[in-house]
Amino acid sequence: MDDRALDRDVEGLLTMPIEWDASARQLHLRNDQVSYLIRVLEDGSIGQLHFGAPLADGRSYRHLGRAGFQGFTNRLDDPIALEYPTAGGGDFRMPALVVEQADGSSSLRLEYASHRIFPGKASIDGLPSTYAESAGEATSVEIELVDRPSGVQVALSYTIFRDAPIVARHVRIRNGGSARLRVTTAMSASLDLPDDAWTLVQLSGAWARERHVTDRRLAPGRQSTASLRGASGHEHDPSLILRRPTTTETSGEAYGLSLVYSGNFLAEAEVGLYGTTRARLGINPEGFAWTLEPGADFNTPEAVLAWSNDGLDGLSAAYHGLYRERLARGSWRDRPRPVLINNWEGTYFAFDEQKLVDIATVARDLGIELFVLDDGWFGARDDDTSSLGDWVVDRRKLPNGIDGLGRRIEDLGMRFGLWIEPEMVSEKSQLFAAHPDWAIGVAGRPRTESRQQLVLDLSRPEIVDHLFTVISEVLASAPISYVKWDMNRNITEPASLALPAERQGEFFHRYILGLYDLYGRLTGAFPEILFESCAGGGGRFDPGMLAYAPQAWTSDDTDAIERLRIQWGASLLYPTSSMGAHVSAVPNHQTGRRTPIATRAAVAFFGVFGYELDATSLSGAERAEVADQVAFYKDHRELVQRGRFVRLRSPFEGDGNETAWMSVSDDRRQAVVGFYQTLTRPNPGVNRLRLRELDPSARYRITLWPARADTVERDNALVRGGDELTEVGLFLDVDRHEVANHGDYWAQLFILRAE
Ligand code: DGJ
Repeated sequence: MDDRALDRDVEGLLTMPIEWDASARQLHLRNDQVSYLIRVLEDGSIGQLHFGAPLADGRSYRHLGRAGFQGFTNRLDDPIALEYPTAGGGDFRMPALVVEQADGSSSLRLEYASHRIFPGKASIDGLPSTYAESAGEATSVEIELVDRPSGVQVALSYTIFRDAPIVARHVRIRNGGSARLRVTTAMSASLDLPDDAWTLVQLSGAWARERHVTDRRLAPGRQSTASLRGASGHEHDPSLILRRPTTTETSGEAYGLSLVYSGNFLAEAEVGLYGTTRARLGINPEGFAWTLEPGADFNTPEAVLAWSNDGLDGLSAAYHGLYRERLARGSWRDRPRPVLINNWEGTYFAFDEQKLVDIATVARDLGIELFVLDDGWFGARDDDTSSLGDWVVDRRKLPNGIDGLGRRIEDLGMRFGLWIEPEMVSEKSQLFAAHPDWAIGVAGRPRTESRQQLVLDLSRPEIVDHLFTVISEVLASAPISYVKWDMNRNITEPASLALPAERQGEFFHRYILGLYDLYGRLTGAFPEILFESCAGGGGRFDPGMLAYAPQAWTSDDTDAIERLRIQWGASLLYPTSSMGAHVSAVPNHQTGRRTPIATRAAVAFFGVFGYELDATSLSGAERAEVADQVAFYKDHRELVQRGRFVRLRSPFEGDGNETAWMSVSDDRRQAVVGFYQTLTRPNPGVNRLRLRELDPSARYRITLWPARADTVERDNALVRGGDELTEVGLFLDVDRHEVANHGDYWAQLFILRAE
């Protein structure tokens, strides 16, 4: 740690950002961006007084909380804001905790017992979470609550980060009684807001069109997104954003709740009868029931809550920084990620060693740094009907093994990467023949097949052990620098042979715990390997995965135009360093669309860049373009992977014909702006693109990529002030005689360097 970091640490400890006011019985979590205020109410329950703009420290805010929770009356059930509402009392809104007790009842009344404030942040047993690297970076408080009749003990944990408008929460539930309990709802966070003037923003879609931004104004009653697939899924991101209807990218209030979890989740908002809003986020209670024997604990995943008064941009910036630097971990967290080429769309299953080396050789000549061998290298996998589970090289295709191929790739001066799908088994496989009972299913019922494969029961430790052994052998057998960890189907007939009937409700969560165990052990055993997570593209792109794999395959859809929406949506919460983005061949394999190769690159540049094609089939002209693209990305990857990502023009607004975004370096000396126009329009009007996050006093030299000899180049390739670029903007007007030169699917990058 350098001296400055040490000073900041000491300072952090001296001005503890969590203050306990004993007379008001109030906890104030505070930094200069946000306040979170909690109070022990008169009846011992924990009230939520405020989460939002920073309020002065050293003051009592007890008047903000209602006198106390009175139980059922006609008017007191709604307006009281509670930290962790339970079922069965007079609060008839969505509970955060439901525990079935020995007599079958589920009522709880949690009362404050004690609390403990400590520097730094604790980890959560068996679950991924954000972290602090030094004690001064974050401060935490754990509040102990108890329900005396049942013995249920609840520890509410909160961490406030020194430099972000973020509070991370999780909950531990302990059976402190003498009878067995069943937890049937255990949310990670519940948030009560005093009005209902909110628009719910969700990131929703499907395979190949993941994370589209969808808005809806809250209405009375409940509105939710969820997964019951055993994975976070392509359909919805495990998060919930609430913004004011007037909030824009750059102004107005917004809350984010994002779950560090990869399995079944529920994100829900409820407008109650007195016009308040309750949001809750956590493991989906549907189908969930966790038995707690006396003395046993259950930990919820972590929910990361953020508040912004600077629009969605403020929220995104907070999540980007935290997820890139204090959720992602390992030796690749801060390193520039290599430009890769993946053979999947280039060859699918039809390849041999020479074909792969030929692709790699061309790629190497174009400057690409990493060659990734995708699906089809093991067992006898010539299509997707067989061999998952048999992680032994197919010598028909690779006579010299993975090792032989890996060495040839390294001899070219490239790194070598490998695809695996460890959680799966094909019915046509040696593994399934030996262990048919390892596949998830219900005895006496047919298993639903999907992509002709079944899922291994990772809730069973012996299966996780087996996978750790066989995958470790593969990874140790060859010079492997990168792993793409795929997962191509969701779980059906959920049940585990290893769990007794009354514990089947634990299955989905135990699967995820097994998955995290496997990921944790493999990333721990191979710390130099860069892991990329994938689930048929974006089917498990979530904060939980980011804790193990710092980057993810954002979508199987590589069409540049589709990617504008996918990457824009993902950027609401996820940093560009987490988004795999590749140039593929045309016609695009998902949409049939033909976009210029420069446009494909200009979109993929704003992510972890690579190619997904057969490089040997590129024409001479395309090769020259690819070489130029790779060089361009290498020159700017530090900026793109670690800089501030700013959304400028949304593909979800208006007719969606234009998109623009930019990356700005931390010192604001450099920026790259991307502008994209889907369809060309004749005789276009005036078009200015105002930039953000520049240094108003700096003067920037602007160059264009690709270069073009027309009005756009003439009007913009100048030296201009940061103030002017912010207030007036770039000139996107296209002379009507030159419109045809741009054509459909036009992309233009503007590179800014301060002089
Ligand atoms: C789905 C992935 O998203 C693709 O990139 C590819 O790896 C295939 N699976 C291979 O089966």
